[in-house]
Amino acid sequence: MEEFLSLAKARYSCRRLNGGAIPAETLEKILEAGRCAPTAHNNQPVKIWVIESPEALAEVKAAAQFPFVQAADCVLAVGALPSEAWVRPFDGKNFADVDGAIVATQMMLAIHDLGLATTWVGHFDADKLKAAFPEMIPYDMIALFPLGWPAEEAKPSRLHEDRKPAEESVARL
Ligand SMILES: Cc1cc2nc3c(=O)[nH]c(=O)nc-3n(C[C@H](O)[C@H](O)[C@H](O)COP(=O)(O)O)c2cc1C
Repeated sequence: MEEFLSLAKARYSCRRLNGGAIPAETLEKILEAGRCAPTAHNNQPVKIWVIESPEALAEVKAAAQFPFVQAADCVLAVGALPSEAWVRPFDGKNFADVDGAIVATQMMLAIHDLGLATTWVGHFDADKLKAAFPEMIPYDMIALFPLGWPAEEAKPSRLHEDRKPAEESVARL
């Protein structure tokens, strides 16, 4: 547990990234962390795209213009398919986004644990991405993860320590 908590606290959004090829066995471990994630009703409506060809990278970089995305030589895109996700019968809530977020979070923690760095990118032009990759059209595109190594000057932003106190975020009934 101590190990898990220290990983959860040490992980931060790294916005100073050095690119470079990601070793195949490292990438496999990240993808495995996503593959073993739980999903509602085990429907597994989540897809991970590994974007590493120069042509595909150029399309992703046009849709997400952060410098740390531009620096990456490999980007993971995570999408969730509402038509395959579990729907709660009481109120019709579709769990696709929730499932996608769990897969994405497990990969994000694995990336840090493996000594790489990333930032969860939600601020991207999903329509532009879908125009470049039509297979993404039916998916809710949840996250991009540029993969790389933390630059020497990389450090957590001030927001990393900025969390609501437990008294505010936890309710005891
Ligand atoms: C769903 C989601 C979307 C995010 N989108 C972006 C983004 O587009 N660009 C960015 O710089 N950071 C993005 N972040 C990172 C958050 O700003 C960051 O997690 C938060 O400020 C806390 O900092 P920390 O990750 O260093 O602990 C996103 C995080 C999440 C969970």
